[in-house]
Amino acid sequence: MIKLVIIMLVNNNEMLKEAKKNKSVVYQFNINNLEWTRFILEKCNELKVPVILGVSEGATKYMGGYNVVVYLVRALISDLNIDIPVSIHLDHGSSFESCKKAIDAGFTSVMIDASKYELEENIRITKDVVAYAHRFNASVEAEIGHVGGIEDGVSSNILLADYDECVHFVKATGIDSLAPAIGTVHGIYKGELNIDYELISKLSKGLDVPLVMHGGSSLDDAILLKSIECGINKINVNSDLQAEWHKAVCKFIEENPNVYDPRKVISSGKQAIYDVIESKINIIK
Ligand code: 13P
Repeated sequence: MIKLVIIMLVNNNEMLKEAKKNKSVVYQFNINNLEWTRFILEKCNELKVPVILGVSEGATKYMGGYNVVVYLVRALISDLNIDIPVSIHLDHGSSFESCKKAIDAGFTSVMIDASKYELEENIRITKDVVAYAHRFNASVEAEIGHVGGIEDGVSSNILLADYDECVHFVKATGIDSLAPAIGTVHGIYKGELNIDYELISKLSKGLDVPLVMHGGSSLDDAILLKSIECGINKINVNSDLQAEWHKAVCKFIEENPNVYDPRKVISSGKQAIYDVIESKINIIK
């Protein structure tokens, strides 16, 4: 008998529009390899929530290229009978060319991050990506201001987005979702963050497009919840998955120094990945 598999690969638009309408959130979980993709798909499918698989340029290169990512995700969806909506999203695309390569390979969504440039240059590059992406029904996210990073364990280099610039940027570019710098940083950090909830609320009310929070790791549930209540519709999580997976694998290796089967070693972090996903999803249930 022929097995009919409907692959629910979608762009980000429907799920994020729905999230904006319901003051809810969709998570982007970043993938690194076959196992991570599998664990994320399995858990989200079990919890019956749509998922955006974030793939950085570095992770794409690590996995072998844009085509590998698309074939891998499609094959897992088919073989594991995943029936939730899934988007394959380029995370922090650094140029028009890398966004084009992702779209040509079958990514359903891209983020163009030209936030290091002056506003008008950011607009010019982002507009080009939007024009190309929309021909192929791919959605586009873009950043304005600068989401910070970590230096010596503490957050640094944050440049908060400006409300008027955000309004101008969205109108001038035609993007589908906006990632404004709101005070979060990428990675695991120590110390306090100053999230600008007022800015989130104002942007959520003033703009039609969904809002994205980068740097969703190491934030308390209360902070995530408040951000969602203020109008964040997509939260990106990468480092929490990595850190918890790493902790579990280190423990496994310490307790099982003679086990060298890579399937056992890598999979010893599976439950940790499941747990991070479940705890994030539980915030909105
Ligand atoms: P974290 O590494 O802080 O989870 O941030 C992920 C992210 O924003 C990817 O774009």
